[in-house]
Amino acid sequence: MKLYLDTANLQEIKEIAQWGVLDGVTTNPTLISREEGDYRKILKEICDVVKGPVSGEVLSLKSDEMVAEARELSKISEHIVVKIPCTVDGLKATRILSQEGIRVNMTLIFSANQAILAAKAGASFISPFVGRLDDIANPGIEVIKDILEILNNYDFSSQLIFASVRHPEHVRQAAILGTHIVTMPYRVFSLMIKHPLTDIGIERFLNDWKKR
Ligand code: E4P
Repeated sequence: MKLYLDTANLQEIKEIAQWGVLDGVTTNPTLISREEGDYRKILKEICDVVKGPVSGEVLSLKSDEMVAEARELSKISEHIVVKIPCTVDGLKATRILSQEGIRVNMTLIFSANQAILAAKAGASFISPFVGRLDDIANPGIEVIKDILEILNNYDFSSQLIFASVRHPEHVRQAAILGTHIVTMPYRVFSLMIKHPLTDIGIERFLNDWKKR
């Protein structure tokens, strides 16, 4: 199971990388907009820290422009994966880019049917947004189950990224189902390590040791 950080904040990335559990990073235009500086420079700095797949999203909506943008982004580092939205133009661009060996993370996926098309177009990664589906009372986990089964049925090579993670329970659910990758915000990584009984246990051990 691979764990990605869903952020463009370098401090957060450096900290989780130091934990020794970080496999990759996903960004999106919203996350990049929160950071100071040039988009390409931010992605380069992230790639220098992570040494795993780093997703950077195109802003164009037309397939030929997406392809041109993706080619430029992919020059930043060998770690760059280009995020392309799940639209007809996105599919066309994904087919061209995957044939050129540029890895695509097809994003903004909300249904199994969209995932089928993304896999057929050659997307290396498929990102269903579970939290945003949950937000509209449409259980995102059901889409994850369907996509995992479909990828398995046909031996597609695309890897599933459980995205739009809201809480550690999403991570547990992803792991139980065998989801390849989970991308989560820094806050969820921090919550995963916490357990009150761990803190109480440490305090008790140290107090007992002092009494010796
Ligand atoms: C994934 O690649 C996206 O960047 C992200 O998970 C979106 O999450 P959000 O719904 O919290 O914005």
